[in-house]
Amino acid sequence: MTGLIVALDTADAHQATEWAETLAPHCGLLKLGLEFFLAQGPAGVHAVTARPIFLDLKLHDIPNTVAGAVRAILPLRPRMLTLHAGGGTKMIEAARHAADTVDDPPMLLAVTVLTSLDSSALHATGVAGGPRQQVLRLGRLAMDAGADGLVCSAHEASMLRSALGSRPVLVVPGIRPAGAGANDQARTLTPREAADAGADWIVVGRPITGSADPAAAAAAIAAELA
Ligand code: C5P
Repeated sequence: MTGLIVALDTADAHQATEWAETLAPHCGLLKLGLEFFLAQGPAGVHAVTARPIFLDLKLHDIPNTVAGAVRAILPLRPRMLTLHAGGGTKMIEAARHAADTVDDPPMLLAVTVLTSLDSSALHATGVAGGPRQQVLRLGRLAMDAGADGLVCSAHEASMLRSALGSRPVLVVPGIRPAGAGANDQARTLTPREAADAGADWIVVGRPITGSADPAAAAAAIAAELA
């Protein structure tokens, strides 16, 4: 069954804590990202929740620097941690090596192509093929380098499942319930469509946290997945 991850995208510690308390009963995992981490730091993460979290820092640097960043993050005991597959094989291998210095390492998830990029935006970055081709290329590279899973849009999930089998944990943002606005996301699908495409987890932020009743919005999405 596909699990729900709620993205707590805020720089405000009180807001994040309130969302964490309200939404934890309705989801499998809470995600904190760059906005929160840069504003509140590791101590802020501890203050928001005692539960293991998904730390979405999308690391992307030379192998030595990423390995150091992973080591610095390990004391927070995140359950999931992201890095950009575009950092290449050696960067991912270095992150794997650093993560494996602890007994229960975080799941390393490689971001393939951001769900905010459509074909033309991706093309403008110099990538000749479309998102599907690039997601597959980076997905293979990341899994071969030791990633535990991949972040992709729901449009590529079934392709990755067929090509790479059951091993990658597929985490899918860019989720929009029917009728919800896309915001800055480009490659979107509904929770049900993502589940049917083979997502292990979907990531939902604003459709929940921007709702007048976040708990009800999360519960409705969880029901759609069930
Ligand atoms: O508010 P929304 O549902 O668009 O939030 C999606 C969340 O997933 C954000 O926290 C964003 O940083 C994250 N994410 C994404 N696309 C990726 C990887 C992560 O939207 N490829």
